[in-house]
Amino acid sequence: MRRGDVATVIAIERDIFPEPWSAALYLAELAGRATRRYLVARAGGEVVGYAGCMLIVGEGHITTLGVDSAWQGRRIGARLLWRLVDEARAAGATALTLEVRVLNTTAQRLYQWFGFAPVGIRRGYYAQTGEDGLIMWVHDVDSALYGARLEEIARELGEGG
Ligand SMILES: CC(C)(COP(=O)(O)OP(=O)(O)OC[C@H]1O[C@@H](n2cnc3c(N)ncnc32)[C@H](O)[C@@H]1OP(=O)(O)O)[C@@H](O)C(=O)NCCC(=O)NCCS
Repeated sequence: MRRGDVATVIAIERDIFPEPWSAALYLAELAGRATRRYLVARAGGEVVGYAGCMLIVGEGHITTLGVDSAWQGRRIGARLLWRLVDEARAAGATALTLEVRVLNTTAQRLYQWFGFAPVGIRRGYYAQTGEDGLIMWVHDVDSALYGARLEEIARELGEGG
């Protein structure tokens, strides 16, 4: 993701998230190059999805994942997550975590495919809607076993070549 992508990213963000991030927040994240990774997916040159994470002492915190509503359900989210996990591993992450709305079962199924497991609930985590946040973790992503899992997912996605 480049600064020039942020206008499109926040247009998608406002459509798909009840509590969208601002452009200023994305720009601040992009400025933190040492500890942040932000990716976009393009279709015909247009940004149609994005994903980001924060990397701190061996842990990757996935901060965002979104796909334009017109493009959802075509494995763009899965491909973004694959790339993000790959980059986090390359940067030395050994564990990854995220929060997801308890009612967002599509996203949870996607994360489970990548080995994320639920470990707890943050009550009322999403202030605007009062929804609970499900905390998910995947450990040992630096292991050969997890590498094999990613390769298997890559085969299904035609990713990683
Ligand atoms: C959640 C979101 C990012 C997913 O991206 P997407 O491109 O629409 O989803 P994908 O086509 O990659 O599919 C996700 C799927 O992985 C699937 N999956 C899980 N295991 C799988 C497997 N073994 N093989 C194939 N697919 C599998 C899930 O089933 C889910 O699809 P389903 O709803 O049809 O069951 C997107 O829908 C979105 O932006 N939603 C609104 C914002 C949001 O909720 N973001 C996440 C916040 S934490």
